Amino acid sequence: MMCWRVHLCLLVALVQVFGIAARTNTDDFVALKSLKEEWENIPPNWDGDDPCGSNWDGISCSNDRVVSITLASINLSGHLSSDIEGLSALQTLDLSYNKGMTGPLPSSIGNLQNLSSLILVGCGFSGPIPSSIGSLQKLVYLSLNLNKFVGEIPPSIGNLSNLYWLDLADNKLSGTIPVSKGSTPGLDMLVNAKHFHFGKNQLSGEIPSQLFSSKLTLIHLLLESNQLSGSIPSSLGLVQSLEVVRLDRNSLSGSVPESLNNLTSVQELFLASNKLTGPLPNLTGMDLLNYVDLSNNPFDVTGIPPWISSLQSLTSLILENTHIEGRLPVSLFSLFQLQTVGLKNNRINGTLDIGSNYSNQLQLIDLQNNFVDSFAQRGGYSPQIILVGNPICDGGTENYCTVPQQTNSSYSTPTKNCFRCDSAKTASPACKCAYPYSGDLVFRAPSFSNFGNITIFASLEQKLMATFRSHSQPVDSVTVNNPTKNVDGYLVLNLQVFPSGQDHFNRTGITRIGFILSNQTFKPPSGFGPFYFNGDNYPNFADLAAGSHKSPSSSIIIGSAVGASVLVLLLLLAGVYALRQKRRAETAVKKSDPFGSWDPSTSSGGVPQLKGARCFSFEELKKYSNNFSEMNDIGSGGFGKVYRGTLPNGRLVAIKRAQQGSSQGGLEFKTEIELLSRVHHKNLVSLVGFCFDHGEQMLVYEYMINGTLRDGLTGRSGIRLDWMRRLRIALGAARGVQYLHDLADPPIIHRDIKSNNILLDERLNAKVADFGLSKLMGETESGHVTTQVKGTMGVLDPIVAANMAPGSVEKFVDLALRCVQESGLNRPTMGEVTKEIEYIMELAGLNPNAESASASESYEEAKKGFDHPYTNESLFAYSGGYTPSKLEPK
Ligand SMILES: *[C@@H]1O[C@H](CO)[C@@H](O)[C@H](O)[C@H]1NC(C)=O
Ligand SMILES: *[C@@H]1O[C@H](CO)[C@@H](O)[C@H](O)[C@H]1NC(C)=O
Ligand SMILES: *[C@@H]1O[C@H](CO)[C@@H](O)[C@H](O)[C@H]1NC(C)=O
Ligand SMILES: *[C@@H]1O[C@H](CO)[C@@H](O)[C@H](O)[C@H]1NC(C)=O
Ligand SMILES: *[C@@H]1O[C@H](CO)[C@@H](O)[C@H](O)[C@H]1NC(C)=O
Ligand SMILES: *[C@@H]1O[C@H](CO)[C@@H](O)[C@H](O)[C@H]1NC(C)=O
Ligand SMILES: *[C@@H]1O[C@H](CO)[C@@H](O)[C@H](O)[C@H]1NC(C)=O
Ligand SMILES: *[C@@H]1O[C@H](CO)[C@@H](O)[C@H](O)[C@H]1NC(C)=O
Ligand SMILES: *[C@@H]1O[C@H](CO)[C@@H](O)[C@H](O)[C@H]1NC(C)=O
Repeated sequence: MMCWRVHLCLLVALVQVFGIAARTNTDDFVALKSLKEEWENIPPNWDGDDPCGSNWDGISCSNDRVVSITLASINLSGHLSSDIEGLSALQTLDLSYNKGMTGPLPSSIGNLQNLSSLILVGCGFSGPIPSSIGSLQKLVYLSLNLNKFVGEIPPSIGNLSNLYWLDLADNKLSGTIPVSKGSTPGLDMLVNAKHFHFGKNQLSGEIPSQLFSSKLTLIHLLLESNQLSGSIPSSLGLVQSLEVVRLDRNSLSGSVPESLNNLTSVQELFLASNKLTGPLPNLTGMDLLNYVDLSNNPFDVTGIPPWISSLQSLTSLILENTHIEGRLPVSLFSLFQLQTVGLKNNRINGTLDIGSNYSNQLQLIDLQNNFVDSFAQRGGYSPQIILVGNPICDGGTENYCTVPQQTNSSYSTPTKNCFRCDSAKTASPACKCAYPYSGDLVFRAPSFSNFGNITIFASLEQKLMATFRSHSQPVDSVTVNNPTKNVDGYLVLNLQVFPSGQDHFNRTGITRIGFILSNQTFKPPSGFGPFYFNGDNYPNFADLAAGSHKSPSSSIIIGSAVGASVLVLLLLLAGVYALRQKRRAETAVKKSDPFGSWDPSTSSGGVPQLKGARCFSFEELKKYSNNFSEMNDIGSGGFGKVYRGTLPNGRLVAIKRAQQGSSQGGLEFKTEIELLSRVHHKNLVSLVGFCFDHGEQMLVYEYMINGTLRDGLTGRSGIRLDWMRRLRIALGAARGVQYLHDLADPPIIHRDIKSNNILLDERLNAKVADFGLSKLMGETESGHVTTQVKGTMGVLDPIVAANMAPGSVEKFVDLALRCVQESGLNRPTMGEVTKEIEYIMELAGLNPNAESASASESYEEAKKGFDHPYTNESLFAYSGGYTPSKLEPK
């Protein structure tokens, strides 16, 4: 039962021996390949031709189809190729926060019939939004904000009947807001949309009356900072669902329609900085209003409106420069949530009396430049009051007669008094030094104006953490810092997200966290209102830390071959680092003890029991790799780089060097290292040693001069793999797997046999790599192992088919097919597989036990090698001392 995954894997190996790989849909692979060619800084594991099978960062698949690409904040740069259309099953595309993504959005994107989320927040895209976007019938979520799009909002967007979220803010869009006319669609048709976020563009013309109807279900209407003119249509009052209305910073004129106070769900109302005339709008009945800003409009001169003290939810009343005159009612200040009263530049006169019953949240009363002539001071008062520019301050020196430097105290997540972190790391609230993911959280219409309130921001932190946790993200803690109101009236604060377990995030982590923020999976606590996140590039992936920005196409050979397992190992190994650094700060490291950082108290048990693997010092490996020179750089991956090194005895090794540290996984690391050092077989790549010294973590493997089988099959390594060599390689791989399965103690299931994980030595002996990723069989829960069949149709090179013995290929295919039988009972064991390949080789006139030919020998020469005296080196004698007699099928 447990072994049958191994059989499937072997099938893949066999199929690949026939010259093929990959299970990802060909169109998808070709499209991704084309996208890749246009991009820089693609994830290093975007290598090979099986994006789905080899789990490319940011790519999710359903069966063989790519359904999601999420690549936020990884510093991706380049253009979006029109070949994106090849990904016809794509449902989600998120390239947010990659400012280097520029150029137009290709029109062909309209062919992605299944696309439901198109999220390109904070990139550098330009040109018009293609009208073809209107054919994306399944689109639910469209966020193109924070780019450089120009031209009009395509009317075809009105065709997107499933659209829920439409964010086009922060671009250079111009023209009018399109509404339907005849057969031309328009935004008035988007009856399922909840969000129109069009702020910070250059939209002009009137807001069409037709845009609004009682069919709309909008909750957020954000049209601020455009060039809209004309009057506010009375039809706005029909959209009863509205909660946030921002029409401020336009050129709207005329009087505010009376229907406005029909919008009884509105909490935030911004009409500031327009040319609105007539009476101040009557807001009576808008009982949920928190934040009202009607400033800077030439309203008719008016007395204090009666509703001003009737809005029980009011936190912020901002009516600067609105031609209000008369005396402020005391009752205004007793609105129990009131925080800010901004009435600068009006004609308020008489005595300012805030009573004794004023809101305990009251923070600021700004009455600069009015006609207040006295102030009824009743005992001590806590809010900040500014009366500069009023008669009362003529020659006055009281506190309220000076403009304070800073009106709002600011918030920062409380942190302990931490030790200083070295290099570019930052101390988390729990004093762990790490590289946080950061960016700006921008709230477009918060309901409050007190930016010093700990309770409010703590609730934001809690909600962020709860969201990351419920989506299983490796987040240790978050901080929010320095909330400020920017020129657009947005609340901007800096967010830092700290990794848990290790001191940096990997690309999967960043892209997922980025997605949680870009697609609004995270919903802020009530009161924060609509937001967007503008993430920074994350420059601290392990492979970037040393300044390597090399294209991953140059990283092959051992890198891809032993990559995945070592990545895991090194991350685990790196885990020891942070812990170690910390301890180093307290006590001097026992340099002589290579296992000094294995602290039994951190559940990692005793020092590792290593068989044969040697402990290298940093200095040694530095020397052997010629100071990790560029010339010896033979690949890289998520874990760091791989260097070729030469030991003093002339032996070549591959040194995998991790870049970053983390603080967990001591036990796992130890287990893996012990496992790797114990497993010795001629057909398994062996661990020569390791290093953790100077805060460095490295694994040293035997060097495989002929690279991966994949390189051999694709011709990249320049080795001709004829049928005989392929059979030998298949046999070697099978024997390696059989050893893991039948002879290793405890048995090991590899789980990831593929041509990239089969390396070839100088004599083209196949060696299986990457079994560090394997699961010990004893630990496998109820013997349940994923058994998805990988691999695609094999294509047999006709030359190969002609170079081979009659009958052997049929038998080989037959064997392969038996390995993927539905029922475990019908599948052969690894032992049987090995025997069968041996038999096939004998049929073909080859000695399965003969030493492999060297890569430089031709087929003919190699055939002579068949007579090559049987070397004394038993297949199983490789330091493990196993003899063939032990190799019995299960
Ligand atoms: C699009 O989605 C539908 C419904 O989920 C599915 O049947 C169809 O196969 C998908 N199209 C592609 C090209 O994947
Ligand atoms: C609107 O969608 C229909 C399919 O539902 C399509 O035929 C039509 O071309 C689209 N119109 C525009 C303007 O995109
Ligand atoms: C106010 O809302 C109700 C309910 O949607 C609607 O029937 C009425 O016409 C609206 N009044 C105005 C003046 O828009
Ligand atoms: C404001 O509206 C309310 C309710 O619609 C009404 O009772 C009141 O008279 C209006 N006030 C003014 C000044 O128009
Ligand atoms: C305040 O202004 C109002 C309206 O302009 C005026 O009627 C009133 O007399 C003024 N009161 C004082 C004390 O100046
Ligand atoms: C902070 O906000 C909370 C929730 O809105 C409120 O209950 C509390 O009174 C506020 N604290 C201060 C000091 O304003
Ligand atoms: C990336 O990080 C996530 C979460 O910490 C982890 O589950 C995953 O295994 C990591 N990926 C790699 C390739 O190490
Ligand atoms: C964001 O993505 C998650 C996960 O795919 C999805 O469940 C959610 O509906 C998306 N949110 C929006 C607003 O589309
Ligand atoms: C982003 O990539 C560019 C090269 O494409 C590089 O110059 C820059 O330093 C990178 N920035 C970060 C923050 O990694």
